[in-house]
Amino acid sequence: MKLILNSLLDTEAFAQKMADRLRGQTITVTLDGDLGAGKTAWTRFFGKALGVKRTINSPTFTIMKSYTTADGTPLYHMDAYRLEGAHQDLGFEECFEEGICVVEWADYIAEQIPADHISISLKETGETSREVELNAHGPQSRKLLEGWE
Ligand SMILES: Nc1ncnc2c1ncn2[C@@H]1O[C@H](COP(=O)(O)OP(=O)(O)OP(=O)(O)O)[C@@H](O)[C@H]1O
Ligand SMILES: [Mg+2]
Repeated sequence: MKLILNSLLDTEAFAQKMADRLRGQTITVTLDGDLGAGKTAWTRFFGKALGVKRTINSPTFTIMKSYTTADGTPLYHMDAYRLEGAHQDLGFEECFEEGICVVEWADYIAEQIPADHISISLKETGETSREVELNAHGPQSRKLLEGWE
């Protein structure tokens, strides 16, 4: 599915809509797109909508950060940017199995991403405008995005 976001507010509304559908699930969301496309901005809005109290910052140097959402489901925020070509196994499996995982630069660790996941690809089309490609891969993801308009 293709979505057009014209402002940061649109990005917030999109993240809220995703949060409403994914709340309480064990699911992985991949975020791809160039530097500054808005992957971390989206994750911040997504976490806020899930009731994360702490400030969500870019995990580029820590690779992974975990947060607790309002209903107790963990939210894992990973950034694979520094893992390009590394093919290291950092033991993410447990994260993927027990909460909501958001992975920036997921393309870099594509082989570790669960087969059933939701992908978001962000493209900067202007200062505050973004083009989004949103896709479901697998039955659980398709169900979660069912009826999206
Ligand atoms: N509609 C929008 N959606 C998302 N971000 C936007 C939008 N309009 C402007 N921005 C700005 O674009 C920047 C996006 O930066 P962000 O850190 O989220 O990018 P990123 O994709 O995570 O980059 P990196 O690959 O370096 O991690 C922020 O400063 C944000 O305020
Ligand atoms: Mg980022």
